[in-house]
Order: sequence, then C-alpha cells, then structure tokens
Amino acid sequence: MYAAAVKRRISLVMSMVLVVLAPGCKLRPSRQPGAPANVPPAPPPVGSPTAWLEPAARAASPDERADRLIAALSRDEKLTLLTGYFGVQKEWNNYRFPEARPQSAGLVRGVPRAHLTPQWQSDAGSGVATQGEAPPELERTLLPSGILTASTWDPELAEHGGAMIGSEARATGYNVMLAGGVNLLREPGNGRNFEYGGEDPLLAGTMVGALVRGIQSNHIVSTIKHFALNDQETGRTSVNVVIDEGAARISDLLAFQIALEKGDPGSVMCSYNLINGVYACQNPWLLNEVLKQDWGFKGYVMSDWGAQHDTVLNANGGLDQETGVAHLNKYQWLDKLAVALARGDVSPARFDDMAHRVVRTLIAKGAVDDPVQPSKIDFAAHAQVTQADAEAGIVLLKNEKLLPISASTKTIAVIGGHADVGVLTGGGSAQVYAPGGNAVRGVGPQSWPGPHVYARSSPLTALRAELPQAAISWSDGADPKRAAEAASKSDIAIVFVTQWTAEALDFSVTLPDAQDALVEAVARANPRTIVVLETGGPVLMPWLDRVSGVLEAWYPGSRGGPAIARVLSGAVNPSGHLPVSFPRSVDQLPRAAIPGAGLPKDERFDVHYDEGAAVGYRWYDKQGLEPLFAFGHGLSYSTFAHEALAASAAKESIDVSFKVRSTGVRAGKDVALVFVSPVNGGWEAPKRLGAFAKVELAPGAERELRVHVDPRLLATWDSALHGFRIAAGDYKVSLATSARSEGPSVTIALPGATLPAGAGSAH
Ligand code: BGC
Repeated sequence: MYAAAVKRRISLVMSMVLVVLAPGCKLRPSRQPGAPANVPPAPPPVGSPTAWLEPAARAASPDERADRLIAALSRDEKLTLLTGYFGVQKEWNNYRFPEARPQSAGLVRGVPRAHLTPQWQSDAGSGVATQGEAPPELERTLLPSGILTASTWDPELAEHGGAMIGSEARATGYNVMLAGGVNLLREPGNGRNFEYGGEDPLLAGTMVGALVRGIQSNHIVSTIKHFALNDQETGRTSVNVVIDEGAARISDLLAFQIALEKGDPGSVMCSYNLINGVYACQNPWLLNEVLKQDWGFKGYVMSDWGAQHDTVLNANGGLDQETGVAHLNKYQWLDKLAVALARGDVSPARFDDMAHRVVRTLIAKGAVDDPVQPSKIDFAAHAQVTQADAEAGIVLLKNEKLLPISASTKTIAVIGGHADVGVLTGGGSAQVYAPGGNAVRGVGPQSWPGPHVYARSSPLTALRAELPQAAISWSDGADPKRAAEAASKSDIAIVFVTQWTAEALDFSVTLPDAQDALVEAVARANPRTIVVLETGGPVLMPWLDRVSGVLEAWYPGSRGGPAIARVLSGAVNPSGHLPVSFPRSVDQLPRAAIPGAGLPKDERFDVHYDEGAAVGYRWYDKQGLEPLFAFGHGLSYSTFAHEALAASAAKESIDVSFKVRSTGVRAGKDVALVFVSPVNGGWEAPKRLGAFAKVELAPGAERELRVHVDPRLLATWDSALHGFRIAAGDYKVSLATSARSEGPSVTIALPGATLPAGAGSAH
C-alpha cells in the first residue's frame, strides 16, 4: 500500500522532471550512487577526514569546521552531500538505502569515512509526515494546519508547535524538516493554503519564522519553502509567474525575508514554478541576488522534489542540493554535475560553496554534534501542545448570542462532516497520520495526494463530554431531510461542513458535496444553527444570514475534537483571528478562476500578478470592496477597548503604544492590529498591517502594549537604489480589530529614509 502510494507520487514527480530533459539527452544505465563515470579525476582530498570533529576543532566556527571537512572530502563525497533521493527503505527503482527512514520524503547519504551524518528529510508543516498511510508505529502528533496556527496571531504558540515537531523528528530519526511554508495567499482556491500563513507578509513571516525557530531548537535543520511565488498548484511546474520586482519585494518575498530573519532556517526550498521566465531553482536573480546576496543567506538551497531541470543552470543559478531523485537511472545531478565540473561549466569554487553550505548548516544547527537518536514520543504532552494551538486559532466568525452554548441547553443535533469520528486534515506531502490512523476510510481520491484523512478526534464525543446535561443526537448529513428533522427537534443544531484540500490540486471556494444545501435545509428547520467549518482556506457562505453562528476550525489537528467542543461550550474563549480575507463572491478576487486549468499537462502558461503587492485586504481596500469576513476578524466571548494610542518616529520607523482594556465579564485574549497608511497615498493600496499584538486579560484588566513597525512596511521598493525607500510625509497609524474595523488613529510625520535590500527588522 505504502509502496504503491509512493510510486504514484514518484511517477508524478518524475513525469515532471522527464519532460524537461533536453531532446536526445540519454539516461544513464543504473548503478550504485556516488561513482560518476567518464570524468577526469578530481583533485585529491587534503587532511584527516575526521579532524573537523576533534574536540579542539569543535571550538572553531561552523564555517571553519566546514572548510576543514570539505578540504578532506573527495569530489564524489561532495557530490554525495548534494544529492537527495526519495527516502525509500525497500529495494525499489534500482536502489535501496538501508539507512533510510521508513516512509520518509528524502535521504541524502552521509560520508561514513568522515563521520558525517546522513540527512534524513521529512515533511513537517504540521507534524512529522509519512509518504503514505502510516502503520501504528509511524503515527505522530498532528498540529493544526499552518493557516490555523497563523490565526492564533501568537508567535510563542507557533514556536511551541515547532519545538514539538522537532522533538518528534528527533525521536523518529530525522534531522532535516521540510517545513516553513510561507507562500502568500493570493488565490483562495490554492490547494496548499492550509500549509501556509495567510495573506499578509508580516503575519505569515512572523508566524512561520517562529515555527521554524521551534523546530530548529531541537538541533536539526528546517527549510522555509516554496521559494517563491508558488501561489497556485494548477500547473505548478509549468506556470510562469509574471510580477514586477518591486511588488514582489514587498509582498511574497518580504514574507520569506521576515521568516528568514525570525526563524533562521538552515535551508530554503526553491519551488517548481518559473518567475518572470526563469525556473525558481535556476533563477540567479532569486537565489543568488535576492536570497544569498541581498539577504545574506548562509544556508543551502534545496530543490523541491524534481524541480531541477538543468544541472549547469541550477548550479550557477544558486541551487545547492538536488532532492527527490527517484531512480538512479534518471537522476539529474550526480553525474551531470561531475561532468559540468570537468568541463568547467561549474567552477570548483562554486562546487565547494555548495558542499560548504550544506555542511556548515548541519554544524551550525547542531545536527552534527548532537546527532538524532530514535526515542519515544511523549504523545500525552504533545496532545496538549496541539490542543492549545487549536484552541487559540479557531476563529469565531459569527455569533448571534447563541454561543457559548448555555448550560440550560437540553437537546443538540450534531450533523455532518464525520464529526462522530474525527476532524479533517489536508492532503499531500504534509500528511501526518495522527494516533489511531485515518478515522474515515475510502473517501476522496485513492491515490496521492488522497485519500481524505480524518484525525481520530471526534467533536461529537467531545461535545458530549463538555455538555453532559444535553442530549446530543448524531446524523451524518447524507440526507438533508433527516438532518433537518433532527434539527427541528433540538434546541440547537451544529452542522459540520468540510472541504478537503491538498497539494498538487486547486479547489473551488464553494463547499463541495451539496453541503451548502445541507446547511440551508438545517437552518430552515432551526435558525438556531451553528456551522463549524473545517476548510483549508476561505469558502463562500451563501447561507450566512440564515444561521446563528459560524466557527472556522480549519484543519484543527489531532486534538481538534476537544478544541472545537471547548470553544462551543465556552470552556475556551475563542481568540483566533483570520489571517486571510474571505470573499463574498469570486468576482471580488483579482482572478475569478485560477489560471491554467484544463491546459495540457506541462504546457507553459503565464499568470500575471497585476495586483502586485495588493494582496488580500490590500486588494479589497484598493478596489473599495467589502469582503464577507475581513482579514483580522475574529469574535470573542469578551469585549475589549483600545485606548491611549500614541505614535512616535523612531529609527526610520514608528514606535506605537496603546492600551487594551477588557470590558467583558470573562477572561479572554484580544488581538490588536496596527495599520499604517501614507496620508498622501503612493502605496499599492491604502494601508498595510504594520504590527500586531495578542494579549490575555482578566475581566476589567488592562495592559499597555508597545510595538515597533517594521520599517519595510512603510517603504516601497526603489530599483535604482536597490533598496527600500520611505517617503517623507504624514502617516496615519490606526488601531483596529480587523482590516474593516478601525478604531483610534493618530498621524505622524516621518522625515523619509532609505533601507538596504537586506534590512532586517528591529521588531
Ligand atoms: C512538495 C514539497 C515537499 C516535497 C517532499 C513536494 O512535492 O512540494 O513541499 O517538501 O515534495 O515531500
């Protein structure tokens, strides 16, 4: 079953790779890796291969130690470090690596002579993933999806989640995590939105950076991915993204830049798509100039699985490590790089730089000196981490005084969404099988990226535990009439609706399987209806006016059931806020449909990001459109007041202080959004999120908060300067609860400033 799933996935990746081989390019016959043929011998290695590990050497910097090791390695050994395979353990496709971890995404072999560890790679967006259905011994804790974690607006929680993932990675023998998805949400229908951090560069970069920091606190490496502008899955290997550099620098690239600064990932994974005509993984502007030169990135760039196309262009364009080689006789890099070196198409210095970057990263992150050791996972402790994340990121979108469910409620009808057994998860390489395995079998595509996987955490069971006084009935929702009947006989109806989304696919923003009709039928029978959404991104809600409450639970992870139940019962006061705008209809979007659908596979096509940096709320503001739910929106069972806003110019930017006061009767958490806006315009849209803060308050309590606006959020990109420019003038600073609900504001004059391309935030 596993082998079949992986094979299907690999054939998908390889079909992407093979089509771009130059005509007439001969595939080499199969043989053992690491022994390139027909190329002149490389210069001999110098020095002891283990000197870099001796106690005296450990005091040296990672760069010095890496240099010492690189000098002692042969060309073939260096090639070994730069070549990643699918991490299969079984004899298969002409190769078998006994050291591979079961069901892993990738393996880069070690150099035993130099005591250099293999690189064991696993996807890890919301837990340590498996490349197919996991047997019980490979089940792991599943965090909520990235978009839910972004909805917490709480970087500390994201970091805890990352630390949990990292500890399970160590326990299961992985030292390179393919995590840190930070592509901006430009397309509400993108099948991977669930893996990412939403539509705003500051929020996404901050939250994903915190996750990466947590992962790497376990002395392992994490990536951020998919660099860059991989904002749709339709034609992901053939889409050419056309965007103005200035717009990219203050939108998608800024999200990566912030994540890089906050998380310091050891690796950046370049993406499948082309940008302004050049594949991301061989794009010297993206990898050499922006990432390595402007941002000073010292780690290594790995390709997305099969995203490399041309050895020489890849190597000289900035790619350091090829990954996802599936067949020894179909590899791209190992021999070809050796040939390119021999011919002088790739310089020895560049070759050593690639190896140096990989080794220095493994040293700098601790993966060499503190090697991973398989051990036991503390599932009980990790259940608390994932539940805390879910409870802080579930968003209460609408509440007409029905929630929290009162203790006097006698009867509740729970309907649909397989809520009797589990909660939905997102599909693709990020798929984690949580304890207990898939609670609902046989649903959705039966080959990768399917099937639909439900974490075994039942909201129905949890609701019954939370609300013991109520009689809670269950109906699967397959028959709207029966569901409506159950609703009409109950005090409250709770309808669970789901949309599975997954890698390699895009989706409509309309709920599938006639679930809108189900909600309509139930709401008609009983207006005291609450809808719980389990979706990977925004969806339309034609029934919104007819229901009393809506909760966006995203994919809430392996403790999603109790988290949902506790928000509904009031045991938890909701504090999630949307990291994305929900459209009223697709006509509001820059593109009503995702481009490229229906084209022959691998036919190149352009997508023009003419909206530039006006992504999400910035687009709605610029066009004067009212979204269904605005970026930042999220209700609480408490109320809060924002007061005493003050702003002062500080170091090319603005310091902001304000008070948040609880005006409710329950303890709760508020998120204060600080928007900045040039009074005389000149940006891609009227305003940008400049800073944010989440604060927990007891009833009646207040806190003074201080935040600093990242100066790049006051700037535009100036190509002539090759940096950011803040125009002199007046700027409005406002406090808000969402992009559509602004509170107090002040105006401040800034003298104007310029910032280098790599200016980090002083946040
Ligand atoms: C995905 C990456 C993933 C890799 C390895 C690719 O298909 O795009 O996100 O890390 O596979 O599983």
